[in-house]
Amino acid sequence: MLKRLLGMSLCCGLVLAVACAPAEEQAAEQAMEEAPAAMQMQLPDTTAAAVWSYLQQEDYRANWGMWPGKGKLYTGRDPHGALLTTYANAAALGALTGKAGSMPAGAIIVKENFMPDSSLAALTVMYKVDGYDPANNNWFWAKLGPAGGVQVEGRGQGCIACHAAQRANDFVFTSSLSQ
Ligand code: HEC
Repeated sequence: MLKRLLGMSLCCGLVLAVACAPAEEQAAEQAMEEAPAAMQMQLPDTTAAAVWSYLQQEDYRANWGMWPGKGKLYTGRDPHGALLTTYANAAALGALTGKAGSMPAGAIIVKENFMPDSSLAALTVMYKVDGYDPANNNWFWAKLGPAGGVQVEGRGQGCIACHAAQRANDFVFTSSLSQ
């Protein structure tokens, strides 16, 4: 009797295991497919260190677009350097090409600032974060050295003071967001 019961439960276990396997495999596969997308969507905290590691993870030079109408090493003005290359993530590019009037939360602009000899001097970053600084259109500002050393981060007063001249254009200088 005991033997039979054991045999039955073993058998049931086997049947269950076999029946369950495909569902489990499917779930595992799905989780693996979803993981990279979920990781990409995880936007950084409002610290320059988090933004820096996010930029490395995103490999922005390879995966983001350059500012519409601007190529590599275009001529910049004071204070950003002689030569500039500016990248924008999908959210920022969408607002630029769609003439949205302003950038949405999650928009990130990375401007590489070069010396006249084309060596990289610094990265200046604008990152729009919902509710971060409502008085100044919720931009998080950062200035980083070529290897990620933090020079400015947060509600950068120097950055804001100058970029506020473009308040009507969401603090953006390089092109109009509405026309
Ligand atoms: C004295 C004025 C001034 C200050 C200060 C300044 N910027 Fe800018 N910024 C500009 C101008 C002008 C441009 C347009 C690019 C160019 O022609 O150099 C620009 C462009 C940018 C861009 C590209 C998007 C855009 O607005 O066109 C980013 C990103 C940026 N600045 C970040 C910063 C950060 C971060 C700081 C502070 C660490 C900062 N800026 C300080 C004047 C300034």
